Order: sequence, then structure tokens, then C-alpha cells
Amino acid sequence: MSSKDTILRLLEESRGRYLSGNELSEQLGISRTAVWKAVRQLEEEGYTVLAVNKKGYQLAEDCDILSSQSIRPFLRRPELYPDIQVHKLLESTNKTAKELANHGASSGTVVLAEQQSGGRGRLGRSFYSPSGAGIYMTVLLRPTEPAETTMLITSAAAVAVCRALKAVCGLEAQIKWVNDVYLDGRKLCGILTEAAVNFEDHRMDYLIIGIGINVTNGDFPPELREAAISLEEKLGRRLPRSPLIGELLNQLSEIDLSQRQFLEEYRARSFVLGSYVNVISPTGTERALAVNINDQGHLLIRLDDGTEKALSSGEISIRKV
Ligand code: BTN
Repeated sequence: MSSKDTILRLLEESRGRYLSGNELSEQLGISRTAVWKAVRQLEEEGYTVLAVNKKGYQLAEDCDILSSQSIRPFLRRPELYPDIQVHKLLESTNKTAKELANHGASSGTVVLAEQQSGGRGRLGRSFYSPSGAGIYMTVLLRPTEPAETTMLITSAAAVAVCRALKAVCGLEAQIKWVNDVYLDGRKLCGILTEAAVNFEDHRMDYLIIGIGINVTNGDFPPELREAAISLEEKLGRRLPRSPLIGELLNQLSEIDLSQRQFLEEYRARSFVLGSYVNVISPTGTERALAVNINDQGHLLIRLDDGTEKALSSGEISIRKV
């Protein structure tokens, strides 16, 4: 690791307090001039480093540039995420993660981008991803459980987002089946999971979980202004992204899919259960009562003629009665 990267790690780990030039030069075994040069390099890359005589250096509180160094201090089990990549601009973190998976990347690889030029949503939609305004992240996993257990990851990821929001921001979020996370009836986060299944042994070769969270409004286009919300809007202040990303990765790895206990929380946070919904499918739209979510994460609905169905995927909209 270069001196600049090591200094960045030390500065990220000691946020809120100064590190003296002496401390840094001793830890790295380099001169104070070399420390100063590395700090200058960081500044050229956009970091705001406060330098105060006789105190040393620290990162400015509002400096929110993502890096592996900025996220690692928040991981409870960093060994689960051996490779955290942060890119300035990608078409889609899901696309890059898939390419990495096809080239043998290991389970726990995390791909983040400051901006996506072609962020993807479910059902062929796009996901608005302007620079620095959100968390655009994909986690690559190589699960060993049978495919039917792994399918629950979509619901588990939504619960992990809610738990991280509670732990880091004190917010109680809700889930709109399948996996949209809402605050005050507006969408905060979308999740797009994709998988490559091995038909020989009914296991997944890899699974990618793409998570997009609105951190600031970043000039939402008119069609999103009403429907979407950001953390900045809800909290009234801009939140640094790394603690939330770290906690989200922690929560994701702490959910035991085979236990299915997390589904209790998924149901409790669902705001569709007990409501009439419109079920949108390629053949049309039908009205139904959302009755329950079963242990496979499927939505149980009751149609007006009394028949019940279990939906494994698809799109619903809340029906105002
Ligand atoms: C949806 O709301 O329909 C799902 C949105 C998922 C967006 C995330 S952002 C990171 C990852 N990369 C993508 O292209 N999409 C997901």
C-alpha cells in the first residue's frame, strides 16, 4: 500500500481527532516532508484535510469521499469483505460485479460507484444515480445453501437496509414488497438482486445484490420528486455515507437465511399487508388484498372472487380505497 493510501486509512480511522505529523511519519517510517507530500496528493484527489500547527492533520467532517479505507473501520468482520472497490463512474455496479464474478472474483467482493451512467432498476427500469448523491453498491456472494434458501436474499437485503438505517440514523423504515425501502410513504432505496444458477446442483454460482440509497435529493427529476425521498431531506442534514455502508454490510452478513427469523421483521415492516393493492402483470392489472408474506418471501394475495395466490415476484401498487 502506498504512503498516501496508508495515511488515508489512518485519517479515516481517527476521524474527529488530529494525527500529528510526527505520529504519521513514525508509523509509516517516512519523513515529515513525505507525509506532507502524501497529504497534498490526497487534497489533489478532492479530500479536505485540515492541517493545524502543533496538532497535525484530520479529515474535514463533511469530507465524504468513499474508499475502501473509509468503509473498513466500520466493519465488524472485515475478512468477509476482502475486496471493496470504489469507482468514480460506472455504467452500473451490478454490471461490473457480474463481470468480476464471471472472472472468478471471490464472495464478499463489493463494488461501489460515486455515479452510475446507466443505473438499473427492477423490471427494466433505470435508477437515477447522480454523482455523490447516493450509495450505489453491489455485493457479490457465492452462496453454498440450496437455491430456494438463497432466493430469500432479496427480502433479507431489505431487512438489512432497515436495520442499518435504524442503527446509524435512528430511522424506522418500511418495506414495500418485494424489496423497496420507504420512509414516510416515499421510496428511499431500491434493491436489484441477480443470480447465475448452476442447474447441475441447484445451487447459485453467484448472487449479486445491488442496493441504491438516496442520500441527497441531487435534483431529482420531476417524476421522482414526489415519489422519492433522500436521507438528507428526512434528517435535515447531510449524512456521511461510509458508516451506513459499513453497517449495511454488517447487517447483510449477520442475517441467517436458513433461520428465517428475519422474515418476522420483514412482515412487521411491510406496509402493504392488510391493504388492497393493484397487482401489475404483463396480462393486466388486478385488484387484490395483500394477506401475508410466506416463509419463501412470497406475497399471498386474495382476489375479489376469493381465490388466493402466492406471488414470487412482480410489481404491486398500493390502491387507495
Ligand atoms: C429498483 O428500485 O427497481 C432497484 C434499484 C437498484 C439500484 C441499485 S444502485 C446499485 C446497483 N447498480 C445498479 O445498476 N442497480 C443497483
